[in-house]
Amino acid sequence: MSLFETNIFFNEEAYNKLKNYLLNEVYPIENTFILVDHCTYIHCLPILLSHINLLERSNVIKIKSGEKEKNIYTCIKIWKDMENLKANRNSLMINLGGGVITDIGGFVASVFKRGVRFINIPTTLLGMVDASIGGKTGVNLESIKNEIGSFNPPEFLIIDPIFLKTLPEKELISGMAEMFKHGLIADKNFWIDMKNNKNNKWDDLIYQSILIKNKIVEKDPKEKGLRKILNFGHTIGHALESYFMDSKKKILHGIAIAMGMVYESWISHKINGLSIEDYQEIKSILSGMYPLKKISDSEMDQIFSIMEHDKKNEMNKIQFSLLKEIGICSYNCQVPYSLIKESFLQRN
Ligand SMILES: NC(=O)c1ccc[n+]([C@@H]2O[C@H](COP(=O)([O-])OP(=O)(O)OC[C@H]3O[C@@H](n4cnc5c(N)ncnc54)[C@H](O)[C@@H]3O)[C@@H](O)[C@H]2O)c1
Repeated sequence: MSLFETNIFFNEEAYNKLKNYLLNEVYPIENTFILVDHCTYIHCLPILLSHINLLERSNVIKIKSGEKEKNIYTCIKIWKDMENLKANRNSLMINLGGGVITDIGGFVASVFKRGVRFINIPTTLLGMVDASIGGKTGVNLESIKNEIGSFNPPEFLIIDPIFLKTLPEKELISGMAEMFKHGLIADKNFWIDMKNNKNNKWDDLIYQSILIKNKIVEKDPKEKGLRKILNFGHTIGHALESYFMDSKKKILHGIAIAMGMVYESWISHKINGLSIEDYQEIKSILSGMYPLKKISDSEMDQIFSIMEHDKKNEMNKIQFSLLKEIGICSYNCQVPYSLIKESFLQRN
């Protein structure tokens, strides 16, 4: 196993792994810090505690829910709480929540006293299939997404789909966008399974989706090459998410990425060989689930200027990952602004 391949355990086996890990005699754990947000404190902490009795040596640190909390000020609050509660190098952080919690918690753990161990227990679909896997941690710098962060993989990951029972439907739909992406970039059969998933049979789809991401991350942990394909839909998607973050039209991460995938599929069709049939199929499935927003000319200019600050840019050039066909993706593609603008017009 490579350093960045995430060790993933499912359901009951996962809780047993955690129990054994807490009894680790070689690298003892003195105390645990469970990071939760407002919702996971209510809905998920009782489930975790019903599986494992952590109370004696554990502390709960609670933050508000939502992307707006993913900033350095929240980290400072958590670091202060940890300091007051006597966290040390032998502490374990348990990040119990969606992508916001696993991103912040992983980052906080990576630098507190030069690094403490942490595990992720994702409680959203997006967290399970994407955010908690692959070692990327971090926070936003004002509206610039994930600008401050580190590569720091968790000790292991616990996947328990029971948490999804309380997740609002819009969050489930948001998480599905990254699953569709996994099919589009790497596995046509998985795309077909996702397209045909009428009964919300999550367990197997979550498992397959995790395998796709983990395999890519294992081959290229620090995103020097292949891992960039996971950014399909994200160059435009992140810019949309950042642009709308502060407005009344705020959109969820997965929804922004789904829109980004439709636009970037158009660009893929124009310059990367994606057939018109594949483009139409992608657009029809994704825009059916994720209605595309109308974007005015002035909004386009602002969204483009956000892309110019994207941390994936190289030599001042905005970098795209583009599809060749469903299941095959290229990376390091450059795209003229006129074509990005044209892609936004493919709404109808
Ligand atoms: N590190 C990575 O590789 C990576 C990859 C993809 C996305 N991300 C990041 O993930 C974040 C988005 O993650 P998200 O969509 O999970 O958002 P989130 O963490 O904000 O969770 C969404 C909402 O659901 C609530 N919630 C969580 N679990 C719940 C449950 N079981 N029941 C009821 N409510 C619950 C949360 O409190 C929150 O209000 C973004 O910041 C994005 O940048 C990171």
